[in-house]
Formats: sequence, structure tokens, C-alpha cells
Amino acid sequence: MQEIRVELTKNPKQKPAPGAPLPFGTIFSDHMFLMDYDKGKGWHDARIVPFGNLDMSPAAMCLHYGQSVFEGMKAYRAVDGRILLFRPDRNMARMNSSNDRLCIPQIDEKFAEKAIEKLVSVDKDWIPTSEGASLYIRPFIIGMDPHIGVHPANHLLFIVITCPVGNYYPEGLNPVKIYVEKNYVRAVRGGMGYTKTAGNYAASLKAQDEAEKQDYTQVLWLDGVERKYIEEVGTMNVFFKINGEVVTPELQGSILPGVTRMSVIEILKKWGVPVVERRLSIQELADAAKDGKLEEAFGSGTAAVISPIGHLKWGDDIMVINDGKIGELSQKLYDTLTGIQWGKIPDPFGWTVEVK
Ligand code: COI
Repeated sequence: MQEIRVELTKNPKQKPAPGAPLPFGTIFSDHMFLMDYDKGKGWHDARIVPFGNLDMSPAAMCLHYGQSVFEGMKAYRAVDGRILLFRPDRNMARMNSSNDRLCIPQIDEKFAEKAIEKLVSVDKDWIPTSEGASLYIRPFIIGMDPHIGVHPANHLLFIVITCPVGNYYPEGLNPVKIYVEKNYVRAVRGGMGYTKTAGNYAASLKAQDEAEKQDYTQVLWLDGVERKYIEEVGTMNVFFKINGEVVTPELQGSILPGVTRMSVIEILKKWGVPVVERRLSIQELADAAKDGKLEEAFGSGTAAVISPIGHLKWGDDIMVINDGKIGELSQKLYDTLTGIQWGKIPDPFGWTVEVK
């Protein structure tokens, strides 16, 4: 394994005061991890250096052709003072799956995990201690060659930055309002929907902007071909409790395989709650709502954790779910996931990894 060179900052920044608001993704810690890739040489020069601007050509390929992938993870300050990561192996495996689709060379997953642990350890005093707050970790890879021309880059940069964060949605655990998108699509099978790449999020901006203008938090995407089947929300996977059974859209290429999604399914199975991954049409959901069978709806994601959905708008059809309140199962899942992540309850799955 490569050595990781560490250069500590001589100008540490002021950390947010305990309990100060931490608007998501706006405050950055003191250091970042960098590693270069060059064709013929592989990944090299792994280093932790002071957080700062990158030196790149305006012709850098990632800026023009979107050859970039990213991940989202968190470090938690456990109640007993330990620092925990949640299933970092799953994030690194997904990063390599995204890399494959975008012609980005594979990373050594174990080494990348170690690099992230080291970065978190260097900036451990940046992990917030207030209730519900954590250190968000953003690993990403970008194509750097200065070249106007569409082909995979030969020189890439793997970067990890971190930021102390509170809730992703200002609503916190209060149910969000979601709008079912009818005009735009996010991804199609055969495209890049299952990867975490910048382009998928660029594709979502217009719809998101229109939804916000109508006072909705995010949009729920339907499949890109028939515009009938539920896929995911902008920053989270979705689950619906219908007549006692939890249903989530199956992974078929255009949906992000969320680490929180996977964990929710495993927790539900352990509890013996019926859970199925299948195609679910928006019409079926609207019918279930009319028949009083749509009991709960929630999104799942690293940033969003478990986010109840209280109101769903599909054209003129408005579904108010569980009277717009958080459901019992959503609350229990939130408590269990966050309980494991902050070490408040035992972790029977072995999902947490301690950073020393
Ligand atoms: C995450 O949940 O970590 C994400 O990456 C979603 C979003 C912040 C883009």
C-alpha cells in the first residue's frame, strides 16, 4: 500500500462553535486528501494537505465533459467519544461501479477507506458533537487533462473533502413535500442513473428549481421511458408502506443503489417487516392513497438519513400521507439507523468502523 504524506495546515480555521447552525455543505474542514492518476503509472502521490483551491487548466476535461464521480459518507462522534464511519466499504465499492461506467480507473477500495480514515483522524476536531450533526465526507474523482476532445482522461485526481453538517433539509425530521415530476426525466436504463456522477445531478436542477418555486422540497422522478414507474427523489431513495408491506423501487439501472436504502431493507428484514423491491407505478400509489392503504412514505440517503414524506403532488392529485406526520415505522428506522451511527445502540450488523 502507498504511504500517505501528511502536510498539516499552518493556519487552522476557526471551527463552528458547539451548537452553531451548520448549513449543509457550506463549511469545510482544514485538510483534504489528494491522489493523482496517470496512465502508465496508476494512482500515486497520496497526500493529505491543507484545504485549498486546485490548480487546474480551464481546459480540464471534467469541466467540459463531466467525467466525474463522487460519494457521500459521514463520520459520527459516538456518544462514548469514539469516531465511527458507516459502511465505508459500500461507498468505495459503489465508487468503483461509477468509475467503471465513466471510464475512470478503479481505485484500491481498502486503500481509499484507509485514506478517508486518516483524513477524518487528522480533522477529528471538526466532527461536530451537537445532536444530529456529523462530518460529511465527499470523495470525488475528476478528469484533469487539458484537452478539448471527448475521450477518457489520462490524468485524474481523487480528492476527499469534509464538512461539518447538520440536517440536509431545513425541515429536519418533519415530513417534506414532494412533487411528482411529469415533464423532465433524470435517467434511463443504459444511461448513468445508477452511478453517482455530476451529470445526474445537473439533469435534476431544472425540475428541482421549478418544484421549489411551487414550495416543494424536491421532485420524485418517474421512469424515463413510460413515465409511469416511481424511481427516486433527487437526493434519496424512496419507500412506501402500503397495507402493511414496505415497497421500494427495484434497482434496474437507472436508480442509485443507496447505502442507506440497502441498510433500511436489511433492518426491515431483521425485524420481520415485509419489504419488497419491485416496480411501483405512480397510479398504484395514488390508488392506494385513495383507498386509505398508503400508510407511510419516506426517503433514505446519507445526507437525508430517513426523511418522511407527508405530501405528494402528482398533477392535480394530492396525497397527504399519515396526516402529514412522521409515521411510526419511519421514526423507528430513523432511531435505529442514527442509534447505530452514533453508537447509542448495539450494531448487530457490524456496519460501523471505528476511526482511531
Ligand atoms: C448523499 O446523500 O450523501 C448525497 O450525495 C446526496 C446529495 C447531497 C447530493
